[in-house]
Amino acid sequence: MNIKIFDIERDHADIKTDLIAAFEKVLSKGEYILSGEVKALEEEFAAYVGTRHAVGVASGTDAIKIGGLALGLNAGDKFVTTPNTYIATAMALSEHGLIPRFCDIEADTYNMDPAALEGLLKKESDIRLCVPVHLYGQTCRFDEIRQVCGRYGVKILEDACQAHGSRCNGKSAGTLGDAAAFSFYPTKNLGCYGDGGMMVTDDEGVFKKMLMLRNHGQSDRHVHDIHGFVSRLDEMQAALLRVKLPHLDDWNGRRRHNASLYDKGLEGLPVKRPVAAAFAHHVYHLYVIEADRRDELRQFLGEHGIVNLVHYPTPIHLQKVYGYLGYSEGSFPRAEEASRRIISLPLYPSLREDEISFVCRTIGEFFKK
Ligand SMILES: Cc1ncc(COP(=O)(O)O)c(C=O)c1O
Repeated sequence: MNIKIFDIERDHADIKTDLIAAFEKVLSKGEYILSGEVKALEEEFAAYVGTRHAVGVASGTDAIKIGGLALGLNAGDKFVTTPNTYIATAMALSEHGLIPRFCDIEADTYNMDPAALEGLLKKESDIRLCVPVHLYGQTCRFDEIRQVCGRYGVKILEDACQAHGSRCNGKSAGTLGDAAAFSFYPTKNLGCYGDGGMMVTDDEGVFKKMLMLRNHGQSDRHVHDIHGFVSRLDEMQAALLRVKLPHLDDWNGRRRHNASLYDKGLEGLPVKRPVAAAFAHHVYHLYVIEADRRDELRQFLGEHGIVNLVHYPTPIHLQKVYGYLGYSEGSFPRAEEASRRIISLPLYPSLREDEISFVCRTIGEFFKK
């Protein structure tokens, strides 16, 4: 068997005709930037998430950058996130002169540990923003994180780039903080056919600032009040995303079903399966296990045609680019330990039961060796 880690073509085979029709509609209208499709997607996405506003941008990275600035942060301000996320969570803001700080994760869910967050905020009272990541499709322990941030006057920008449709105690990812950032990178639970992203918020002032920042600081045509960027979701991506959004819950349901098949198939094997927290509705952007002899297992799976990845092999505080922050090996033991032990297995809506059984059997064979 050959099992891809993602299979976007297969996932979307059923909606190909609708995608082509949407593509042709945009071609025949002849409008490509910030027009009707983007506006309609923004309204539909805000309604899906449950926020008053949504603003389309060029990527998830830009959604974090513009989201953070719209919440009032400036170069030189400090923000906190976790070290075991995609580099963009930190770099989106640090490349604009903001200063990243990190706190450790919970060993079970790999998400921000509220106690570690509080420990840091107690020590560093000048941290102004918290960027918790809903990693692998599971929201972090948000009620506690909100309470901690509330005690220290810290704003919250959710990194929901891996968590479209996820929930925390019944509340959607994206509605939990002051604003949130989503990515439409092609492999995401809701992905486009290039780069794209979306910011959401309930706050009118933050919304207005997001609109200006994504388009040269423009408040009205040819009126520029602040410095801004050019970061606009395009009409083509918006039209294709509008075809896909109504399918998102069904696809997430299939991801959850496939995760439950893995959970059963891996039972009794010496691997740690993902922990789905009781408060969370996990949408399994990734299915991540932990194992001893991780690298040997990865190679064995590869030799049997099972593509697998590590999200992420180097915690961000150990990346060369952040050497100036003064962190070192041992700074965040739980994140570091996870990075040595985790493997992402193939998981997507169209993955078949026989493929999942094959992956589980192959892992079983490895441990019999
Ligand atoms: C957790 C997380 N944050 C941020 C991003 C950045 O999104 P994008 O690739 O759309 O810029 C991604 C996606 O790659 C991500 O997984």
